[in-house]
Amino acid sequence: MRYSCLLVALVLFSAAPASFAANCTATVEANDAMQFSTEHIEVSQSCETFKVVLKHVGDLSLQAMGHDWVLSETNDMWDVVNAGNTAGVDNGYVKPGDERVIAATDLIGGGEQTSTTFDPSKLEKGGNYSFYCTFPGHASQMKGELVVVE
Ligand code: CO
Repeated sequence: MRYSCLLVALVLFSAAPASFAANCTATVEANDAMQFSTEHIEVSQSCETFKVVLKHVGDLSLQAMGHDWVLSETNDMWDVVNAGNTAGVDNGYVKPGDERVIAATDLIGGGEQTSTTFDPSKLEKGGNYSFYCTFPGHASQMKGELVVVE
């Protein structure tokens, strides 16, 4: 009896910290069918940094089916995409120094994985943010909303 009470106390104690901590990482998969695995990411402003892990779970090459994960205000999305297309594959289809880009991963091919981080305190609660792939022709299908929460 005494032992089981101790066990319960240990389980409660060890579980408590996790329930208070916000999830400060999101994993997004991208595939050969030009799809992200999610269209919605929530970012807590309590996170010091937020990390996005991009996994290309397909087999196709970067040249044929490259993917990246780029974040900007929704209003800037198509300007960022068009500037990235002009910048070309050598720049991972993201214009170098594009100030509209809040975060961007490298461009990757099938079987590869990459990540990026950003500071959630630089985002406005209630702002409109979108993430998307800047590979030519992908953003109309590979996109989603990023929502800032407390
Ligand atoms: Co793509």
